[in-house]
This record gives sequence, structure tokens and C-alpha cells, in this order.
Amino acid sequence: MEKSTVETKNLTDALTPRQIVEELDKYIIGQFEAKRSVAIALRNRARRQMLADDMQDEVAPKNIIMIGSTGVGKTEIARRLARLVEAPFIKVEASKYTEIGYVGRDVESMIRDLTELSVSKVKAEQTASVEETALGLAEERLLDCLLPMPRALKSQSHSRQTDEFDADDDIDIDDIDEDEIGLPFELETTDEQNEALEKQRERHLKTREKLRQQLKDGKFEDKDVEINMKSRSMPFVEIFSPGGIEEMDINFKDMFSNILPNQTKKRRVPVSEARQILMQEEAEKLIDMDAVISEAIERVENSGIVFLDEIDKIAGRESRQGPDVSREGVQRDILPIIEGSTVTTKYGAVRTHHILFIAAGAFHVSNPSDLIPELQGRFPIRVELKSLNKSDFQSILTEPKNALVKQYTALLQTEGIEADITEDAIDEIAALAFQVNESVEDIGARRLHTIMEKLFENLFFDAPDLEEKSITVDADYVRGELAEIVKDQDLSRYIL
Ligand SMILES: Nc1ncnc2c1ncn2[C@@H]1O[C@H](COP(=O)(O)OP(=O)(O)OP(=O)(O)O)[C@@H](O)[C@H]1O
Ligand SMILES: [Mg+2]
Repeated sequence: MEKSTVETKNLTDALTPRQIVEELDKYIIGQFEAKRSVAIALRNRARRQMLADDMQDEVAPKNIIMIGSTGVGKTEIARRLARLVEAPFIKVEASKYTEIGYVGRDVESMIRDLTELSVSKVKAEQTASVEETALGLAEERLLDCLLPMPRALKSQSHSRQTDEFDADDDIDIDDIDEDEIGLPFELETTDEQNEALEKQRERHLKTREKLRQQLKDGKFEDKDVEINMKSRSMPFVEIFSPGGIEEMDINFKDMFSNILPNQTKKRRVPVSEARQILMQEEAEKLIDMDAVISEAIERVENSGIVFLDEIDKIAGRESRQGPDVSREGVQRDILPIIEGSTVTTKYGAVRTHHILFIAAGAFHVSNPSDLIPELQGRFPIRVELKSLNKSDFQSILTEPKNALVKQYTALLQTEGIEADITEDAIDEIAALAFQVNESVEDIGARRLHTIMEKLFENLFFDAPDLEEKSITVDADYVRGELAEIVKDQDLSRYIL
């Protein structure tokens, strides 16, 4: 029996708030408050799980609203957090539920999607844990396929179920002639015949072992074999109902997979690929899907995180005209999920009481106080992300892992060009980005992307033809490429 994945959690496994912030620091410049809040919220979840059961139920997650204008790192913080913690995580745009035709519809799908993600993650983990066993079994099946058991032997052996595989013609196996020895069907088996069979079996096994070694040594990787694989294709049924398609997949897929016979189809693939396919099939037989599902659901319920982006787009209480009408509706629909309810998924009921919700929005035209009061109460923590200034830009350009400057240098390196982007160039880029944000529109760090792209446009075009392979990008170069555009507001509006 494989080791169960339900680990007993303890606080020492969880990252401390300080460690979480340190990790986030590797990718996001500044925004200390926001990092701190998400770190505390995460740690509190771990703390909660240490409490006695009855108290656990009482402790509600401290949901967070991140407030900050565009491009200051809201999504980036959530995205990095997701990678950092091994928690089921999903990002949804709150505004998506207001779209025409989807008014207030099916906000529960976010929980279904989260559960789906969790199930595949747990399943992948389990698959990895049975990988070795599955590989062994897959190899047996590959051998069956490279060297089918002679018919005479097959009729005798009841224990082994072999797949009907054909050996590829151009694999030359010296003594593959066993198949030729057939036995008259009706005759009673005599001792002599038994002996012949025994010999044949021995020979078969010997060849099989020889092949096994060659298979392990990778001798057949490119040879084609024909394998029987389970056909996983579902009949394509799409039913448009007022409830939408998501609801359908709850029942239909499962229903059909029970009704339809398990179909297999023959496929001719190289051994290397066949091994993977068979391994997957064997692994699926080895893992206990019920255990996977209950583990996945328990993770969603106790450590799931939903990132609700664009929450400001559904703020606004007074029903004006047009799309506004639906905003409050969406808030009302989301409310029960955030307050804690039970969502039906195809894997079973999922309680949302302890899922952590992190909402984010620019809140330029609306305020968190424009959210319906019930919703405000469910987001007790508010953090503001600051607008980025020139020195933030300098850091963003160079410090994060895979920072922009590193990216552009690496891209040019692929053309054999060594670009030296000097410090004063970075200074200049940051200054220009800040200037354009001030004068045209503040799009935060995204401005760096537009500026860098423009700055390197000529170089990217000419790179393959350049004689000179080492290039210095300094402040003068930056000014030369960009100054005119930045000076002219109308021009920068279009180009940057
Ligand atoms: N503080 C920061 N440090 C490093 N990179 C940042 C920072 N802020 C933004 N960026 C970069 O800018 C880009 C946009 O950031 P992000 O997607 O987080 O913006 P946002 O705050 O979610 O904006 P929006 O409100 O438009 O969704 C990303 O490529 C991100 O890496
Ligand atoms: Mg965003």
C-alpha cells in the first residue's frame, strides 16, 4: 500500500510570515504591507489547523482586499504566493461574472475549478509515488508486446493476461520462432508433449529476459510497437442550458463513463512513447481515486486560496443603468461562497468556510465601501499598494529573478550578441518610465515593458546581421532611441 498523502500538518512545516515575505521579495519590489498581510493570512491558516476541532470551525479566514492602481504588483503577489505555497490556488476576474448573458451566473464554478485543480495535483503526486511500480508493470506489458507468448503456452497459462501486441517486424530476435510450434488441439497432452511445452516455456522466458535487458538499455526506443490503449474519448455532448455548460459536466461525464463500455484502441507508437502510455495506464490502476478525491477536497477546504481580481469592477451599490444593474447581483452571488457554503462539484460537496479569498482592485472610481456591507465584513483586511516611483523602477529592472534587464540580455545572447546595459542606462530608462507615467497615464511597472520594447526594437531587428557582437547600451543610447518619443506627449501616448 502506498503511503497516504494525508500528512499530519504541523506548524514547523509551514513557512513563517518572514520567510514568505522573503520569498516574495525575490520577485516583487516594495509593497511590503501587502506582502506582510498575505503572509500573516497564510500563517494564520496554518495556526488554525493546530487548534482543537471545535475552535477550528469558529476561526474564519481573514480575507484580504489589495487596493492599488494598475501594474503595481497585485496579481504578481498572488501569482508568486500561489507558486510558493503548496495550496490549491485559482485566480478569477470578478468582472467575468457580470458579462452579458452571464449575469450573476454560476459563481460557484470558481470552487469547482479550484477542486478540479486540486484533484489533478493530488493525482499527479500519487502518480509520482507509484511511478516505479507502474514502470515495472509497463515494462512487462512492453515485453508482452515485443515478444508475444506463443499460442500453445498461452492456452495453458491462466494467470497472466497478456495484451495482444505485435512485435515489430524489424526487431530481430534470434529465437522468435517459438510461435511456429503449434500443438494439435484435440490431442490429449502426453508426457512428451508436456515436456516439449516446458522446454518451450523456458526458452520463451530466457528470450524475454534477454529482451528485458535490451529494453532497459534503451535498444528499442525508436522501434514501433502496437499497443492497446484505453480510449479515453468521451462522446461529445454539449447541452446549452440556462445553467450553462459547467453544470453539465458534473453529471454527464461520470454518467457516460459508466454506461459506455471500456473501449480500447490499437495504436502504433515508438517504444519510448508506449512506455509512457502504459505507465500512465498502470499508474491509474494503482492509485486509489477515492482517496485522491477526498485528499483533494480536504486541501481545498482547508488551504484553498481564491484570488478575486478586479473586485472594484463589481463594486457600486446603486443600480444605475446598463451593466451596473448586475454588479450588486454578482456581489450577492459571491457572498454565500465567501461567507461559507457548500458547493456541489462532480467530486462531491465542498465547504467554502475556510477558503482564503484575496480580492484585488484599483478602486479608482469606487471604494471598498461601495461593496455591499455583508461583503465588506468578509474582507476585514485592507492593504494599499503604493504607486511605483523611479527608484522602484530601477530595482524592478534589475533585481527580481529574471528581471527585465536579464531577460533582454539573454534574448540578445541567443543571437550571439553581448549587450552591456550600463547603470546609467537603467537610471535613464527608469526616469523615462516614471516621466511617461506621470504625464500620460500611470500604468505602473507595465510601462517598463513598453519602454524596453521600444528601446530594443532596432537592436532586435538588426541583431542577426550585426558585425559588431558586443554592444553597450548606455544613457546616451537610451536617450537616442527614446528621447524624442518621450518629449512628444502625443507620440508617447501612441507608442509607449
Ligand atoms: N512591485 C513590483 N515589483 C516587480 N515587478 C512588478 C511590480 N509591480 C508590477 N510588476 C510587474 O508589472 C507587471 C504587471 O503587474 P501586475 O500584473 O501585478 O499588476 P496589477 O497590480 O495586478 O495590475 P492590474 O490592476 O492592472 O491587474 C508584471 O509583469 C509584474 O511583474
Ligand atoms: Mg492584476
